[in-house]
Amino acid sequence: MFSRVKGTRDFLDLTLFDFFIKKTSIHVENYNFEHIDTPILETTELFKRSLGTNTDVVNKEMYVFEGSEEGEKSICLRPEVTASTMRAFLENNISSLPWKVYSWGPMFRKERPQRGRYRQFHQFNIEAIGSGEISLDANFIAMLDHLFSEALMLDNYTVHVNFLGSPDDRKVYKTILGDFLDKNNSALCGKCKERREKNIMRVFDCKQEDCQKLYKKAPYIVDSLSEESKKEWEQLQSLLELLSISFSYTPTLVRGLDYYNKTVFEFSSTALGAQSAFCGGGRYDYLAQELGSKECYPSFGVAIGIERVLILLEQIKDKLPLPHKKPLHLFLPLSENQYSLASLLADHVQAANLCVDILFDKPSLKSMMRKANKMGASYVLLVGDDEQKNNTVVVKNMVSGTEETIAQNDLVGHLKK
Ligand code: HAM
Repeated sequence: MFSRVKGTRDFLDLTLFDFFIKKTSIHVENYNFEHIDTPILETTELFKRSLGTNTDVVNKEMYVFEGSEEGEKSICLRPEVTASTMRAFLENNISSLPWKVYSWGPMFRKERPQRGRYRQFHQFNIEAIGSGEISLDANFIAMLDHLFSEALMLDNYTVHVNFLGSPDDRKVYKTILGDFLDKNNSALCGKCKERREKNIMRVFDCKQEDCQKLYKKAPYIVDSLSEESKKEWEQLQSLLELLSISFSYTPTLVRGLDYYNKTVFEFSSTALGAQSAFCGGGRYDYLAQELGSKECYPSFGVAIGIERVLILLEQIKDKLPLPHKKPLHLFLPLSENQYSLASLLADHVQAANLCVDILFDKPSLKSMMRKANKMGASYVLLVGDDEQKNNTVVVKNMVSGTEETIAQNDLVGHLKK
């Protein structure tokens, strides 16, 4: 017996998954985003350059395949798709801006598996490349809020927003934060001491209670913003208010990937436990240049963690307008002599766009009927010796229990009624 690889899962019922994809695709297409797709395999360097070599994703979590021959590039399973989308934008010389696209599919990160955290997971990713207007950020967040609250009918979540300013703002802020951490060095846990050196703003992600208590008193970046950045931060907040988005300013939200500047945000729900963020993103104005572009393409985007949204949808499944399964018409040929006739009749019924199956089973009628019940058949279509002789079919309605004998020529018309 084989078991699945640690941190992966089997989807045996995709009803909620398909519901999410359908609703979300329709929703974002109404905001003029187009569906694209990019490969699961990308060069490792793409993510090193974009996410940053000091991030957990690049440092510890990538599935990498080193080139076996000299000069062959190292490739990896994509851990996210923003860098891939920017690569595709630059490589395909897209000129019509902003390029508003969405894609969805599996991502791979070698993390410690737990509820809502997998090594192969799915994201629904939405990007707008080539727009530096801060109004776009507010509209984007509003689009997501409408998606979750209206299209997907979720209510138990919070929208966290922070503003990381420009690279210059961050340079100033990192010195101020560094001074604060140095003054409180003895109170820091080992991991935070390491973060202080490698990726200073990530100290805020620490789960230790003592560190968290300390960071409540830390200086925050919005207090180190230039006049220009401050204006944009204020503009973002008033636009969100204008659009009636209730959000929580969360100064410790810094996000785990290096490409962000200005607006960052997450949607989280306490119903998810430790892995509470089910959607996260922000502005990444310098990523194109990081990847070698001469031009700057200010951009904004988000990824929704599908597995985590599915946990939330599962909890409200009963009130969701999930599609009904088509009624199943199940042919029961009563002996091998009727196999060909049942196949032929089933073929006609299928051509009429009805859901059909045939039970090629030898046991008694009683056990066949039991199986038909288990399969959830709405109608059972019995074809035995008599029916074959008389060119008829016995149609049994499995809900009401009524039976009718129908001429084979009239079968499709009768079932379509
Ligand atoms: P991220 O915050 O790394 O951002 O991931 C986005 C979402 O993917 C998370 O909020 C979470 O719901 C889900 N997720 C992440 N890791 C896992 C995991 N191991 N198992 C299950 N779900 C997970 C990004 O990936 C950015 N590319 C988002 C973005 C798009 N920024 C701009 N554009």
